[in-house]
Amino acid sequence: MSLSDNQTIRIILGRRSVRIFEEKSVETEKVDLLLECAFAAPSAMNIRPCHLVVVDDKELLKKIGEASVHSRMAAGAPLGLAVCVDVANYEKQHGFTDGTWMEDASCVMENVLLAARAVGLEGVWLQIANRPEREGTIPSLLGLPDGVRALAMALVGYGAKAKSPHAGVDEARVHHNRW
Ligand SMILES: Cc1cc2nc3c(=O)[nH]c(=O)nc-3n(C[C@H](O)[C@H](O)[C@H](O)COP(=O)(O)O)c2cc1C
Repeated sequence: MSLSDNQTIRIILGRRSVRIFEEKSVETEKVDLLLECAFAAPSAMNIRPCHLVVVDDKELLKKIGEASVHSRMAAGAPLGLAVCVDVANYEKQHGFTDGTWMEDASCVMENVLLAARAVGLEGVWLQIANRPEREGTIPSLLGLPDGVRALAMALVGYGAKAKSPHAGVDEARVHHNRW
């Protein structure tokens, strides 16, 4: 048995962006597990600034899908988990004005996508922050208060089509000790 047969490694290598989902909702037990994994993500100084907006309202997902060409897949997803941070408060309270919140929220996103894969679901990262057409509409659809920003939404469901896992190392991008 090789090291890459390890189940966790298989989940990491097997995670792919899936944008077409079966018409099947995600069981509450799995949603709860995704949330638990979201809150287990590392964060700078353990501040844990992320809030999750759980979206399973089909009409709302449809509206999110209409926010831009590349967010259309939201309309066919049974579940979206938006990873949000009260950025105004975070910056004021902790003095991090360098975008660290985005790193914290990215860790949450990856935890959610990997946990989804681990329980037989697939997903995709829908970027929201810094995409004007999305950031101009999705936060208000989600009812985010002033000062709260959504980094992204993990769209999750049962994948309609299997994708092949990742494999290999891009040796041209590996540098030993010095670039
Ligand atoms: C920061 C970030 C933003 C992304 N935004 C989107 C997006 O808005 N829409 C989308 O369809 N995929 C988005 N993706 C998914 C990427 O397109 C995908 O990860 C990439 O093509 C590699 O494919 P894989 O996830 O199957 O390995 C995003 C991924 C990341 C990490």
